[in-house]
Amino acid sequence: MANSSRPEIIVKLLLLGCGGVGRCLIHHIVATRSLHAAQGLHIAVLGVCDSRAIVRRKGSQATELDNEDLHHICSTKASGHPLESLVLDSLDIQAFASSEAGLEASFVDKWLGSFKGLVIADCTASNQTSKFIGECVEKGSCIVLANKKPLTLTLEVYDKITSTQRRLRCESTVGAGLPVIVALSRILCSGDVIVQIVGALSGTLGYVMSELQTGNLLSVVVKSAKELGYTEPDPRDDLSGMDVARKALIMARQLGWRMDLRDVQVESLYSSDMGPEFMSVDDFLEKGLTTLDENMKRRVEVAASKGCVLRYVATIQDHRCKVGLLDLPCDSPLGRLRGSDNLIEIYSRCYASSPLIIQGAGAGNDTTAAGVLADIVDLQEFSD
Ligand SMILES: NC(=O)c1ccc[n+]([C@@H]2O[C@H](COP(=O)([O-])OP(=O)(O)OC[C@H]3O[C@@H](n4cnc5c(N)ncnc54)[C@H](OP(=O)(O)O)[C@@H]3O)[C@@H](O)[C@H]2O)c1
Ligand SMILES: *[C@@H]1O[C@H](CO)[C@@H](O)[C@H](O)[C@H]1NC(C)=O
Ligand SMILES: *[C@@H]1O[C@H](CO)[C@@H](O)[C@H](O)[C@H]1NC(C)=O
Repeated sequence: MANSSRPEIIVKLLLLGCGGVGRCLIHHIVATRSLHAAQGLHIAVLGVCDSRAIVRRKGSQATELDNEDLHHICSTKASGHPLESLVLDSLDIQAFASSEAGLEASFVDKWLGSFKGLVIADCTASNQTSKFIGECVEKGSCIVLANKKPLTLTLEVYDKITSTQRRLRCESTVGAGLPVIVALSRILCSGDVIVQIVGALSGTLGYVMSELQTGNLLSVVVKSAKELGYTEPDPRDDLSGMDVARKALIMARQLGWRMDLRDVQVESLYSSDMGPEFMSVDDFLEKGLTTLDENMKRRVEVAASKGCVLRYVATIQDHRCKVGLLDLPCDSPLGRLRGSDNLIEIYSRCYASSPLIIQGAGAGNDTTAAGVLADIVDLQEFSD
């Protein structure tokens, strides 16, 4: 219940990225205003960035964007226009020097006031935000990540960003809104020893594998997945396994393993001679994929003959990270998985014979943005 004598907690937010997830986050923030108000909480969006510019409210430092400003920002981006094209008297728009440079720490000083108590939410897919985020960490900001890149570049970058762990939340980097990171964190801090993690971490590959199981050809399944909007614009971004590899690396590093992305053993579902540098997306879909059908069909049949099904999974065990196809028993949790759900099995001393299992929708703007918002709310103790 609201307590009128309690001062309202104001969480100041800077949002990086205004794509599918970023816009959905803004929508959630506006839609939960009264829910949060009843809890004595207010989320003040001070700035929103895309790849080219930052938008903030005209006036003194740290004036928040109101609901109407936020609505304009979202509808401009949703119709495919850059933030720079916004013309509103109430708004200040500052272009970045270059897209590589992105947002610089001096903007925060000049425009948003204090780093301390500021929450920076990275909802980009960029590998260029990590320098800025590292600087903000050093100056006392809180960080929320949906973007996996800052946690999967070099260990030097990783160490910097995770140096103040209590002020970092990254739940949506693995399994979208599913509570995977927090589950691992609770197990680890209790001294329980994690022995193995096995997970289906790609909704796209989950869909593909369960369709293959029903006897469909890979080329047919991938094309229909693309038509249904389940894949990236270039389906090779899913089929390469690199997105799953980044998620596996984030969990392995959380276990304290000092490894890099290149140490993750990744099985790509297409051969390197069909890569983007050799083949257009259309050629890959029309010609490349069909050459993979026969082999994939055989693997599905071999698995079935052993009472197994083929799954694309990440395995984290014995200081090794592996991502690729595995034959798994039909009656195991991962074997029973259908469609685009994610499923993660965690084995530890406490969860030895009966693993901790986390399952549910592991993608989508809505669940991902909900995970980001819960992370932001979870950092309210650091606001000032
Ligand atoms: N969608 C999901 O289901 C899901 C699930 C889990 C995790 N994620 C992660 O969430 C993140 C966002 O996904 P999305 O689908 O929303 O991506 P998206 O639609 O491609 O949006 C990315 C946004 O980031 C902006 N951006 C790029 N570089 C930037 C920079 N240097 N500084 C500031 N902004 C920058 C882009 O600007 P422009 O508009 O100018 O291009 C765009 O607005 C990704 O890392 C993704 O892996 C997504
Ligand atoms: C996420 O949002 C983007 C941009 O609005 C949209 O193209 C995409 O289809 C959405 N994805 C899902 C799974 O709803
Ligand atoms: C960052 O991404 C760009 C484009 O996707 C790529 O060319 C570049 O090599 C990447 N940089 C690093 C450090 O990973």
